[in-house]
Amino acid sequence: MTRKYLVAGNWKMNGSLKANAELLAGIAAQAASVPDVDLLVCPPSAYLESVGKALPAGVQLGAQNLSDQLKPGAFTGELHGAMLTELGCRYVLIGHSERRALYHETDLKAAEKYRTAQALGLIPVLCIGETLDEREAGSTEAVLRRQLEAVIDLCGIESFKSAVVAYEPVWAIGTGKTASPQQAQAAHAFLRGLLAERNANIAGSTQLLYGGSCKPDNAHELFSCADIDGGLIGGASLKAADFMAIAAAAQALAKA
Ligand code: PGA
Repeated sequence: MTRKYLVAGNWKMNGSLKANAELLAGIAAQAASVPDVDLLVCPPSAYLESVGKALPAGVQLGAQNLSDQLKPGAFTGELHGAMLTELGCRYVLIGHSERRALYHETDLKAAEKYRTAQALGLIPVLCIGETLDEREAGSTEAVLRRQLEAVIDLCGIESFKSAVVAYEPVWAIGTGKTASPQQAQAAHAFLRGLLAERNANIAGSTQLLYGGSCKPDNAHELFSCADIDGGLIGGASLKAADFMAIAAAAQALAKA
């Protein structure tokens, strides 16, 4: 089963009209050189419309969050999924560790948002990962299982036909500490195994991304791992040269 590489940029709460235009121009200049890689950018919601209008050919648009509500209404400050699709979003990040840690999103809330995203035509990028304390306590697999099974239990294994999973060890996000390829591959293989317990075909076709200080100088090694199908890139996605160098690492492996 061949899975396409996906290289996704999570801009987090960064950017400005000027900075975004420069970043997109840099991506546009090189997008044609990575024809076998899916590219995705997830700007802050305030910029979805302007980024959507200036999106380079071959690059998809994603949001960083959405409301769990299926119907629009009186939910001040929230973003309905249909608004995101209207602006051209195809993907939405769900359950990023910053949402979990800073905004108290539970496993169940992430699962509900995942369900709403799919119901409204978006592809969820489900982010899961353990903290340093959890890793040191030897509970990495238990945490990954709990976070993934919350979604499988609510939405079913079939839902993973149209979803992406990002393994993002919390201790590697924005810290400059990358998981070693061995650590990342072990977690990815474990996650694919959990999916395979329910449905081997779906497990074989689900894109599993690595996230956490993924950079041009470690992307090749990480993406070479059997169960790593690309990356969710934070800091390095804000520089076109770095983001596209990471995409080039995926392209080289896709063609190898
Ligand atoms: P980072 O962030 O690449 O800056 O570590 C990754 C993420 O949070 O998605």
